[in-house]
Amino acid sequence: MKENLTFSYDLSKEDKNRRHKSLVVWFFGLSGSGKSTLCNSVEKALFKHNINTVVLDGDSMRKGINKDLGFLESDREENLRRASEISKIINNNGLLTLCSFITPLEKNRKLINSIIGRKNIFWVYLDVPLEECIKRDPKGLYKKAIKGDIKNFTGVSSPFVVPTDFDYVVNKSFDLKTTTDKIVVKILKNINKSK
Ligand code: ADX
Repeated sequence: MKENLTFSYDLSKEDKNRRHKSLVVWFFGLSGSGKSTLCNSVEKALFKHNINTVVLDGDSMRKGINKDLGFLESDREENLRRASEISKIINNNGLLTLCSFITPLEKNRKLINSIIGRKNIFWVYLDVPLEECIKRDPKGLYKKAIKGDIKNFTGVSSPFVVPTDFDYVVNKSFDLKTTTDKIVVKILKNINKSK
């Protein structure tokens, strides 16, 4: 009886990485901090460099593959675990993944590092204070959370733990173009694509 039923593909991660290295870029921070805006801008800039990317975004994943999950600590952990496993598959296929998730706890970040591998991730922390995110409130969710109409809302009724480990930090009043350019230079260097 054959023991191993897994098909063995000929092209390895190393083969695919000869074109350019794969990488997971993980944007994290409070809701309203600008993760998706920055992720979108970085994606467009990479596209101009002929780098194709796969975007995984909390809001859209929660409408599909993660629609069974809410915002309890255990649900968030599962949301991020699935995103990490998907990112790992994409990473092993030689592509770039751009992830945009609040990723509120150290234990979430540890889990992500343990699944994908720390060296395969470029962590981008959006260090925007809660008061600023409340002021912006682009989706009107903070207003509802403060009123008590949304439970377990990050920063209001659910914790966000300030990180100590990241590769790039973006502050409150970041300039989108300058920040995008700086991050893209670092990504291109990381994936061995810099001119
Ligand atoms: S995470 O905590 O599991 O990383 P994720 O990034 O997927 O969160 O989803 C966050 C988005 O879900 C927010 O940007 C917001 O639009 C929406 N949302 C709805 N309810 C909550 C809540 N209770 N806490 C945080 N975000 C919420």
